[in-house]
Amino acid sequence: MIVTVTLNPALDLTYAVDALVPHGTHRVAAAAERPGGKGLNVARVLHALGEPVLATGLLGGATGDRVGHLLADEGVRSSFVRIGGETRRTVAVVDRADATGFWEPGPTVTPGEWSLFVAEFRELLGPATVVTLSGSLPPGLPIDAYATLIALASAADVPTVLDTSGPALLAGLRATPSMAKPNIDELGALLSRRPGPKGLADAVRGLATGPVVVSRGSAGLLAITADEVWECAPPVDVAGNPTGAGDACVAALARGLRDRTPWPALLPDAVALAAAAVAAPVAGAFDAEVYRRTRATAAPAVAALAMPEGGNHAGTHR
Ligand SMILES: Nc1ncnc2c1ncn2[C@@H]1O[C@H](COP(=O)(O)OP(=O)(O)OP(=O)(O)O)[C@@H](O)[C@H]1O
Ligand SMILES: [Mg+2]
Repeated sequence: MIVTVTLNPALDLTYAVDALVPHGTHRVAAAAERPGGKGLNVARVLHALGEPVLATGLLGGATGDRVGHLLADEGVRSSFVRIGGETRRTVAVVDRADATGFWEPGPTVTPGEWSLFVAEFRELLGPATVVTLSGSLPPGLPIDAYATLIALASAADVPTVLDTSGPALLAGLRATPSMAKPNIDELGALLSRRPGPKGLADAVRGLATGPVVVSRGSAGLLAITADEVWECAPPVDVAGNPTGAGDACVAALARGLRDRTPWPALLPDAVALAAAAVAAPVAGAFDAEVYRRTRATAAPAVAALAMPEGGNHAGTHR
């Protein structure tokens, strides 16, 4: 099974209002709650694809209970470690024009709770085929928390996909995940200057020894390895909700890692699933018809840039 790690999950609340007016009181026309956090989106997408998946991470308080119940209602299997703090909420207020978000930081995790999680993670590595590590770290966790989990997974020969940002991404990359999936802005934030296409590959190789799949919104994906660069763009620009498209991408990459799918087939699959996620109104879901259609029409990934001498075009990533 694919294990998805979400250390800072959330209860996502969405309030629909007519028009958001600062300082005003609003009648909420509709309120929805969903399990939130990038790793939970990955788990929900994999579950909808019919893949065996187990969601793990940290949950606490009544809000954590609610997230657990909502996941179970969707049929997603989970095994979370309980913490003393309260799982955070995110609130999105959506009106006719736009959405306004309020993100709580998350509970502070104690060193003892982190040790309990690491012990649980070691257990889950037994049945795991791939591990995904997504999203921000809650307060209290060491900045190299993902690096610790990646090292444990590597020692157990379980491949990993890392999708986070900032110092947690930088520290995680040092542990060489099987793949990292930053978006272009997250990657740019780690670089002193924003390079052009050729410079980007060199800059990524300066940060990471393993493959990095850079997502670039509607421009698609770029996979940068030690000696290759593969590129794949969606055949059409999809209108919809791009939040969670990167998480769908991670779901496809995790499945492809498990199946050892080579880059020319792996990237179009990830591009198609991400496009289908844009077409679905909420994060963690995808439009099955858009997935099928885009997969049928997406061109295979192409080797994008001249390779250094000695490189090969085999297209395998493990
Ligand atoms: N408008 C779009 N049409 C088609 N495909 C899209 C569109 N927007 C995004 N995608 C696909 O989704 C992938 C991931 O998008 P993006 O780079 O925005 O990820 P992200 O910022 O990590 O998203 P998130 O973290 O919210 O899940 C892109 O590489 C692309 O393949
Ligand atoms: Mg993302």
